[in-house]
Amino acid sequence: MGSSDVLQEMALKALENVKNSSIIGLGSGSTVAVFVKALAKHVRDNKLNIKVIPTSLQIKLEAETMGFNIVDDTFIPSLDIVFDGADQIDTKFNMIKGGGGALLKEKVLIHASKHTVILADENKYVNELQRAIPVEVHPYARTYVYERLKKWGAIPTIRSNDKGYPFVTENSNLILDTDFGEINDAVSIEREVKNIAGVMEVGLFTKHASRYYKARKNGNVEVLIP
Ligand code: A5P
Repeated sequence: MGSSDVLQEMALKALENVKNSSIIGLGSGSTVAVFVKALAKHVRDNKLNIKVIPTSLQIKLEAETMGFNIVDDTFIPSLDIVFDGADQIDTKFNMIKGGGGALLKEKVLIHASKHTVILADENKYVNELQRAIPVEVHPYARTYVYERLKKWGAIPTIRSNDKGYPFVTENSNLILDTDFGEINDAVSIEREVKNIAGVMEVGLFTKHASRYYKARKNGNVEVLIP
């Protein structure tokens, strides 16, 4: 099965979590974009009354194209459920997110929401987190945070685009993709990095989702509940 068909199968299965009259948070990335299309059809076919809150311009544009009723941040405390992707998920359900730079808004919605559903293909499920963790930093604190992370023994690299320009998030911040080596205690790393002055958010997500959907190459979709 092709990789987009696999994501499509997973999106269709994840629709089982959608209830009428709910406010739905939409994470960002290519997997969520597939889900948004499936959700739009489901809402139309079943004449559901759904409001959505996007976490990035990328997914807002998708939601606009699909004709969703998009509401603003005023509704965040009333969120019913968030659908989001991930870059890596370990066996304890800790996640690395922020590959697309939307980590700050994604974390706000995941913490605010009653339920979260994570959609990811099987390659993203790993025994131990191995990727660099995105750390979103206010530009004023760039050098300070960089040095603090280095003193910690981590290796931060400022994210840049293909042409070498620094990547600027939708919140006008920078990203330090930071290699922390082996991550033994994800909860304390998340807390301590967040505690450095000038750090706006950390792409380590230790709050568990309600369900994790795993799309296998053969088209099967597994549902994991922590
Ligand atoms: C966005 O910043 C990320 O947190 C995404 O959720 C993550 O990068 C997954 O994206 P893909 O679905 O495109 O792999």
